[in-house]
Amino acid sequence: MEYAFFEGKFVPIEEAKINIKTNSFHYGTAIFEGIRAYWNEEHQQLYILFAREHYQRLLRNCKAMFMELPYSVEDLVNITVELLRKNQIKEDVYIRPIVYFKDLKLTPKLIDYTPEIAIYTYNFGRYLDTSKGIRVKVSSWRRNDDNSIPSRWKVAGAYVNSALAKTEALLAGYDEAIMLNQHGFVAEGSGENIFLIREGKAITPSYSEHILEGITRSAVKKLLKNELVVEIEERPVARSELYVADEIFLTGTAAEITPVVEVDNRKIGGGDVGAITKELQDIYFRAVRGMIERYFGWLTPVYEK
Ligand SMILES: Cc1ncc(COP(=O)(O)O)c(C=O)c1O
Repeated sequence: MEYAFFEGKFVPIEEAKINIKTNSFHYGTAIFEGIRAYWNEEHQQLYILFAREHYQRLLRNCKAMFMELPYSVEDLVNITVELLRKNQIKEDVYIRPIVYFKDLKLTPKLIDYTPEIAIYTYNFGRYLDTSKGIRVKVSSWRRNDDNSIPSRWKVAGAYVNSALAKTEALLAGYDEAIMLNQHGFVAEGSGENIFLIREGKAITPSYSEHILEGITRSAVKKLLKNELVVEIEERPVARSELYVADEIFLTGTAAEITPVVEVDNRKIGGGDVGAITKELQDIYFRAVRGMIERYFGWLTPVYEK
């Protein structure tokens, strides 16, 4: 039996249904998260990656959207652990918490409504090709500006912007889109942050470039600094700089670390996965599966031993 956490309790997934009059369904005023858990066969253990960090971001975003939940970060981590146990998950899995206004009322506003949280598990598999790398297109769609719909928050309505850019890229024969912000500088992918490598240095757009405050981005910054001893510059990145980069990769919970081998039909570096990207992937994929002791702090084990 597959369960979801819905309206304060665990229910069979078929019963986790919302009414078509639900306010957030109409206006995209929901805040969501994407979390991965990795199965380690040898340890017979499922590890949730950055559980606390995802729920901290969720609650921060909810606060900004006037969605006060009766749960702490600890409560939400515990509920997620229980959900994974109930669903007896023994493989890699994706977890989707979503907070929405459950009121059956129309009017797009954020006050005088009641927020509710639902959490369910999803078999995502690989989101993008992390081994061979992907071809991307700079989108004709610009990333939402902070003064229209903040990209900093994982707010459901903002993903119309992602969907437009991703669709344009797919229809043109590419795997993913890179969006520029309203000022014409590189922002991020439709569901990923971006890093460039130039002359041994890593470059990534800073938080002020109208991007999501990515949790994988933060982890990758630590790995670059501590493991690969690569210097990081956070600054505006022009579109033309993408074409002359030695390596490019995207980061995200779903996308993990995805190499970009081509941008707008220009090969990046030699047109295959770069050396720094490869080394970074190797450490990241071992760390998330509980294979590197110094990164155990990233993980929440699901099963009691
Ligand atoms: C637009 C966007 N940027 C970046 C990311 C990467 O964020 P994180 O590493 O926290 O998953 C995501 C995915 O959640 C996203 O949707």
